[in-house]
Amino acid sequence: MSAPAPVAPAIELSDVTKTYGSGALAFQALKGIDMRVEAGEFVMLIGPSGSGKTTLLSILGCVLSPTTGTAAIFGEALHGRRESELPRLRLEYIGFIFQGHNLMSALTAEQNVAVPLELRGYSHHAALVEAREVLTSVGLGDKFKKRPEELSGGQRQRVAVARAIAGRPPLILADEPTASLDAESGMQVTQLLKALCTERGHTVICVTHDSRIYHLADRKIFLEDGRIVPEDQAH
Ligand SMILES: Nc1ncnc2c1ncn2[C@@H]1O[C@H](COP(=O)(O)OP(=O)(O)OP(=O)(O)O)[C@@H](O)[C@H]1O
Ligand SMILES: [Mg+2]
Repeated sequence: MSAPAPVAPAIELSDVTKTYGSGALAFQALKGIDMRVEAGEFVMLIGPSGSGKTTLLSILGCVLSPTTGTAAIFGEALHGRRESELPRLRLEYIGFIFQGHNLMSALTAEQNVAVPLELRGYSHHAALVEAREVLTSVGLGDKFKKRPEELSGGQRQRVAVARAIAGRPPLILADEPTASLDAESGMQVTQLLKALCTERGHTVICVTHDSRIYHLADRKIFLEDGRIVPEDQAH
């Protein structure tokens, strides 16, 4: 019997740098990041404003390419790619949850989840079926027809979570998903993200400043001035 094929880690970065701009205006936002995350982990990315959290998330999310170093998600190299190749990787692997949820105000909850699926090739009917299933799984089974303005902040953020997990992209990237929420709603959204790891097998990277939710992480990664630092050196 042959041995099972080795499973690639969800994320593997080696000496990744990112420089914005060039010449005298060049600014190095990431200064040599080594990072490995296994599939199914729930990792919190923590650091002060300007430390490079969104930049790192943008590289993992196939929005930006690293300037130097090597990066891979699920064994697919991200470095050395043409910009035109990134959207395919993004569609296949990534679900984003943005700060401030970013929902379309003219659309209902189910349309907010279904429309991006249609852009990924789902039929109208299949997109609606999947949208209703994920909305139900985040506790919004009775809110399909509500527009964002008719929902609470926590409910809106759960629509954003539903949109990110629809179609089951393996890697969920969340940029301060609890920033605009009160303590209880923030805790609920974070518990939801954690449940996604254990119950649906997603890998989740969650940027946060919120120390009240740190204990829910499998692991915390601290960024400071473009570098990963040990917890006891983090501010
Ligand atoms: N497009 C850009 N051009 C030039 N510099 C940029 C650009 N985007 C970010 N930076 C700089 O890179 C650094 C890291 O920015 P980044 O957005 O990754 O920080 P962050 O940790 O997400 O901060 P915050 O907690 O405030 O969201 C900052 O000093 C920022 O000014
Ligand atoms: Mg940021």
